[in-house]
Amino acid sequence: MPAAEIDWALSVYHPRPADSPWRLDALFSPSLMRHYSLGRWALLEALKIAGVGAGDAVLLPGFICREALFPLDILGARPLFYELGPGLDPRIEPDQLPPAKAVIAVNFFGFPQDLSLFERYCRRHGALLIEDNAHGLFSRDESGRLLGTRAPLGVLSPRKTLPLPDGGALLVNDARLAERSPRALPPAAGRGPSRRSLLRRAAPWLGARAMAYCLGAARSWRAAARERTQPPGSPNPCPELLAPLSMPSPDYEARRRRALYLRCESLIGHWVKPVFPALPASVVPYLFAYRADPEPARRAESLLMSEGLWSLPWPGLPESVSSTAPGHYRNVRGVHFLW
Ligand SMILES: Cc1ncc(COP(=O)(O)O)c(C=O)c1O
Repeated sequence: MPAAEIDWALSVYHPRPADSPWRLDALFSPSLMRHYSLGRWALLEALKIAGVGAGDAVLLPGFICREALFPLDILGARPLFYELGPGLDPRIEPDQLPPAKAVIAVNFFGFPQDLSLFERYCRRHGALLIEDNAHGLFSRDESGRLLGTRAPLGVLSPRKTLPLPDGGALLVNDARLAERSPRALPPAAGRGPSRRSLLRRAAPWLGARAMAYCLGAARSWRAAARERTQPPGSPNPCPELLAPLSMPSPDYEARRRRALYLRCESLIGHWVKPVFPALPASVVPYLFAYRADPEPARRAESLLMSEGLWSLPWPGLPESVSSTAPGHYRNVRGVHFLW
């Protein structure tokens, strides 16, 4: 279908299924892939492979969501936060950072993080590098490498990109680590269609704007509940993640997300400052991430709503970071490309 005929805003609520089923593990071959219900379970396994135990230090960015700390809490590991600049580039001096068992580099919003400083740190301290690519399924760096495959271990959260009930994945990219990798988990019992999947079917009749207004109202009713951290439940993946996927194909999804990103840029670019100055050709963005002062942010939000789009702040900073976090960790919002 030519790009002009696709209602991209509607695709947020009703993404088009692939013409033929495809497999996620085939896309990431030859890396070994293990499936979970959430990315945080995959991160837990990655830390275990790195040998992280109680009291061990793990380096990770201070600009991070609380959910990413869950595996460290489970293991009793000690988070050491490194700084990021406003462009979300690491401000680390590898020779001056304290030793840690593992270091986590995050491809924020699907944009590739430069791994060279982290690799230098790992060579110096014998730490294992984990590429947290929860946001960047299908995204690549400028040399064409899929994000999540550039370090010995990678973490994915396919549920953030594809309309799945849940889904996380661990990538073991270094064959020498394969023997330490966990056994595959059986799928969780099937749950029947969720309320969200039923609403997705109704989206073509309701249209993107009606969906956005209804969801906005539902979100404010649930605002208090959202503050509570949800317990993560079982690590076993949904059966849909293990079977051939009838979800949007990687090519379609890349086009869809890039088109939405560029649409957001032209719609609200006058009022807001994108976190990243440009959208490289190889990037498949998770969100349109921007910063804005309160008044322009309100203008931007109403422009977005007029098209059936909306943004939310990111991240919910961990308590240990939020009291000392710099301003540029607190003013990021993202326009979502999948509901
Ligand atoms: C950067 C990052 N890493 C890991 C996770 C964990 O992914 P999941 O929510 O699938 O557990 C998230 C989101 O929660 C995240 O934003």
